[in-house]
Amino acid sequence: MRVIGSATFAPGLRILSVVGNRPQFIKSAPLSLALRNAGVEEVTLHTGQHYDPELSAVFFDELELDPPAYRLESGSGTHAEQTARMLPGIERAVLEERPDAVLVYGDTNSTLAGALAAAKQLVPVAHVEAGLRSFDRTMPEELNRLVVDRISALLFCPAEGAVANLAAEGITVGVHQVGDVMYDANLRLAPIARERSRALAELGVEPGRYLVLTLHREANTRADALARIADALARIEEPVVFPVHPRTTAALAAAGISLDSRLRTTPPVGYLDFAALASQARLILTDSGGVQKEAYWYGVPCVTLRTTSEWVETLEKGWNRLVGTDPDLIVQAVREARPQADRPVLYGDGHASERIADLLCTMRHG
Ligand code: UD1
Ligand code: UDP
Repeated sequence: MRVIGSATFAPGLRILSVVGNRPQFIKSAPLSLALRNAGVEEVTLHTGQHYDPELSAVFFDELELDPPAYRLESGSGTHAEQTARMLPGIERAVLEERPDAVLVYGDTNSTLAGALAAAKQLVPVAHVEAGLRSFDRTMPEELNRLVVDRISALLFCPAEGAVANLAAEGITVGVHQVGDVMYDANLRLAPIARERSRALAELGVEPGRYLVLTLHREANTRADALARIADALARIEEPVVFPVHPRTTAALAAAGISLDSRLRTTPPVGYLDFAALASQARLILTDSGGVQKEAYWYGVPCVTLRTTSEWVETLEKGWNRLVGTDPDLIVQAVREARPQADRPVLYGDGHASERIADLLCTMRHG
């Protein structure tokens, strides 16, 4: 028998993984493999939050993920609509599967819905990427992080700072610093990406002589923020490759903003093409959480179009700079950014997934 939090685990562990959007498919890839290798039975539920092939199917194909056993169609909408549409389907799967734990990833509405549905049925929640905080409650993700961590039985943290954030909120039981599953994925896939991807040639850019941009945060897709960012982009001389998130495409159209024609825009690309593009860029401009870390792992300076970050270690090491949406600051930071002399290892050693699988299998506390 295994005891996790307040729950007792029988031999033959069964896990229900709840995923729903791009970064979660990526995070689940190394963990699914580690679970399988540890003999754990994993059943996956896709909430349907991301449904376009370039935000969903491409990752199942590329990362060779098993098709989800449950597929909901929650789709887009306001936060409440989207979250509410997910809950009954997740609850049904929880009741049908009676898993030993429900695994949730990151900080999205799918994470919140997965955790809520499980906790309400008294199934332990295991949170991958626990303890991250931006300390900005206007971000929808921050509220998700706070709630999910509060109701999780197992909290898998990527770094010491995340453990400290939880301790400051009085959460100390079930907390484990394991490293970052995204780093596991990155170490395995980035070398393959450089071999296989033709993205640089297709977009007409040369290694080290272009920037990569990603932009999708709610606050940055408002018309005023978009206009400021577009202004900055028009003042950047270097080629900028921009895989545009559909939210941003829609927001640009609604605001009547046309981007500078020199930008190399493309629909979102798969993990391998993005890894090839990001790892060979001179600089990355982003408001993504995951991309800030990947920039660091690639040794590519990052300029973050936000005023806060959960990934504070990348800022402290001097590889990442917060500029918000002020055009002058953006242009200046892009001009000034240079690689730093030191790049100590951050967010684990590439074995976070195995550690999580082991903890799920062997842990005893309560
Ligand atoms: C969501 C997460 C965010 C995460 C991001 C990863 C929340 C609150 N936000 O943001 O934390 O960083 O995923 O990419 O959970 N859309 C499409 N096709 C799709 C999906 C979305 O066109 O397949 C468009 C729709 O217009 C939709 C908008 O994008 O309204 C936003 O989608 P949504 O899933 O609500 O949030 P993201 O911005 O993707
Ligand atoms: N990514 C991708 N294709 C793209 C842009 C990003 O595969 O066109 C990957 C990127 O490598 C990273 C992840 O998507 O692993 C980050 O997801 P996103 O920025 O959507 O969400 P966040 O991390 O901000 O929650």
